[in-house]
Parts: sequence; C-alpha cells; structure tokens
Amino acid sequence: MKKEKESKDGDLMEKMVSLCKRRGFVFPGSEIYGGFAGTYDWGHLGLALKNNIKQAWWKKFVDSRRDMYGMDAAILMNPKVWEATGHVANFADPLDGKQFNTMLKTSVGARKDEVSVSYLRPETAQGMFVNFKNTVDAFHPKLPFGMAQIGKAFRNEIAPRDFLFRQREFEQMEIEYFVRPADWEKYFEYWRGEIRSWMEKIGLDMNKVHELEVAKEDRAHYSSRTIDFEFDYPFGKKELFGLAYRSDFDLKTHKLEYQDEENGEKMILHVIEPTFGVDRAFMALLLSAYTEDPAKDGASEKEPRVYLKFKPNIAPVICAVSPLLKNKPELVKYAEGKVFVPLKAEFGRVVWDDNGNIGKRYRRQDEIGTPFCIVVDFDTLEDNTVTVRDRDTGAQERVKVEELKNYLKEKIL
Ligand code: GAP
Repeated sequence: MKKEKESKDGDLMEKMVSLCKRRGFVFPGSEIYGGFAGTYDWGHLGLALKNNIKQAWWKKFVDSRRDMYGMDAAILMNPKVWEATGHVANFADPLDGKQFNTMLKTSVGARKDEVSVSYLRPETAQGMFVNFKNTVDAFHPKLPFGMAQIGKAFRNEIAPRDFLFRQREFEQMEIEYFVRPADWEKYFEYWRGEIRSWMEKIGLDMNKVHELEVAKEDRAHYSSRTIDFEFDYPFGKKELFGLAYRSDFDLKTHKLEYQDEENGEKMILHVIEPTFGVDRAFMALLLSAYTEDPAKDGASEKEPRVYLKFKPNIAPVICAVSPLLKNKPELVKYAEGKVFVPLKAEFGRVVWDDNGNIGKRYRRQDEIGTPFCIVVDFDTLEDNTVTVRDRDTGAQERVKVEELKNYLKEKIL
C-alpha cells in the first residue's frame, strides 16, 4: 500500500515538472549548457502565476493595511551586516563533519585594494532591519508596525533538490513586525492566523498544511520561537512557510532604538517574522490545483483530463477566446474585435486560441488552469451571446457579449 502511494506521489512530481516545462511555466536553468544545479528559469505562464502570488501577498499584507511599509533593498549589502547578525559565524550546514557556510560569496570592486568579499543576501529580512531607522524617521509609525519586502535570496545549498523546493537562487516574501516586548505572544498568534488566511485565499489545499512547533535545537540562531507551516509534497511533509519570534535579536545587534513620540519612552522593539517562500508557494499551489479526471468511456477521450484548479484571481490566464471555426472570417472578425480585444485591454491575462478543434482547445487550456473558455459561434452573430465554458465542471452557459467584462470581474474577486 505504502509503495503504491510512493509511486503515485513520485508520478505526480514527475508530471508536474514535465507540465511546467512543456507548457512554459518553469525551465531548468541554463538548460542548453547542461543546466546549473539549484537554478530555474521562469517562462511566460510560470511568471504570470508567480506574479499573481506576489501581488496577492502585497495586496493583503501591504496595500490593504495602514501599519505596513514596503521596502526594496539592495541584494548586495555591506559584509559587516552579515558579521553583525551572526550569519558569517552561524549560517552553515554540516558537510563531511565540518560546518559549511551557505552564504553565496562574491567579490565586489575592481582595483585590487578596493576589492572586498561580500555576500548575496541569504534572506531579505536584513534589508529591512538596516532600514528600520530610515523608515521610522520618514514615516513616524506608531506601534505596532511592520516592514514588508519581496525579493531574491541566495544560498549555496549543499544539495539543491526537489524541483523548486531547495534552490540556490529563490525568492522570499517577508514581514518584520515590530512590537512592544510584552506584546510578542499576542502578535505571534495574530500572524499565525494571517498566514493561514492568506494560504486559503490563494487556494492552497489546507488539508495538506500542517503546523510544526520547531524544537529549540532546530531553530535558526536568531529565533526564540518558530512555527513551520509544512506542506505534504510528493517527496514528504516539508517546510512551506515560517513564523519566527526573533525577539530583540536584530534591532539590538544593529543598535536600533525606537522612541515613542507621545511619551518619549525609548526601547528596543521585538520582532515577529512571517516568512514566505515564493517558489514553494508556487509549487504547493500547483500541487493543490493538479487534478486528473479519469478518461470517459468510448469516444476520443482515452487520456485522463488534466486540469489545474487555480482560483481565477491566481490563474496565469483568466480566459481564452476562440472562434468556433478558424476558417470562417465572420466568426474570427467578431471573436477578435468584439470579444478578444476588449477583454485583453481590460484584464491582460487573456489569450487567443484557434488551434485544433474545440475539444483540443479546452484540454490545452485546462492543462494551464484557464478557468474560462469563451467561444464565438454562429448563434453569436444572431444574438450577441457567447458560450462560456467552466474549467472545473465543463458546464457551458450563454453570456451576453456586453456583460462579459462584469461576468469575469465577479469571478475574479
Ligand atoms: N528571514 C527568515 C528566513 O530566511 P528561512 O526559513 O531560512 O527563514 C524562509 O527561509 C523561507 O524561504 C522558507 O520558509 C522557504 O519557503 C524559503 N526558502 C528557504 N530556503 C530555500 C531554498 N533553498 N529554495 C527555495 N526556497 C527556500
């Protein structure tokens, strides 16, 4: 039984990696030169999905709040930062009995006497801490408040593996939330709920999400409490996101005080850090969305129907527009001028698909998770309605062309 499950899960992983490449989501990095371990390149559809994930995150955690300040710090930072934070001494994994520092080293500067060793940041977090004072001086935030950043991070992982799970170059979405020392537990619980609510919102399968209270000996050197949000990947239950209580570790290290503008009280704030890996979110979302319906008896449908059940707000393509027949100019003209062009201008993530028969088009769109396929047929020319076909149920309904924009807007909410 277990063997059967393992091979089914292994299959799923293989199917996902192959779909990602074949349909233009994710390609192995530098592939035509034999690849480059721990790197992947993003194709048109993968990039669209990734951008939607990041936008959904930014919307919930930055744009819809009053207490959050966005950042986009440089990836290259003064190496003193990493010495101060303990990363130079502690950011290491065991290799052949010794500790191997996994920060990615690089040298900066041209002339010999100017060259210094620096690191590509292993977390986006420090870009926010070193701008704590700048942010307080610029915005005068009241407590509690947070800083948020999305950006690349680099780690010279000893054994990159499991597709996007462990890479050497990846992306993080992080929040540093600054609270009074006495309030940390309250906000730790608060962020625990916020993380879960975002996961649900983007459409992760919550039955596959588990929380793990990380034991002291397994926590990062800066953390006084960590909860890992784990996901059931085909290769096992592993970390997806994290929530850490970094206490006063960072602001004390950088000697950054906060002064309450109302009563003049000075203090070192404590930090709650919800951290999200973009690439792991992407993979977990694909695994949550991947669905196979058994082949129907008879007819031409011998292969199972594969579709990605993305929520419309996250799907890389919202809808595909087709003329029923591509050799009928009146259908093509209508489909392009009255449906495709206006929808494309409104939503952007709209494609034109007139290849093969309608059944093939549906299958192709199912496989990339397009929630709606719109078909212009001969009735359209008479009554200005089109067929809208739902990806998950296969159900079709007639919608007035003039109502299409609102129809889709409601679905995307
Ligand atoms: N600032 C805290 C921090 O960096 P972390 O648990 O080391 O914490 C945060 O990393 C998140 O970044 C992880 O939960 C994971 O989603 C993602 N992540 C870490 N290493 C990764 C890697 N090698 N490849 C892909 N994602 C990674």
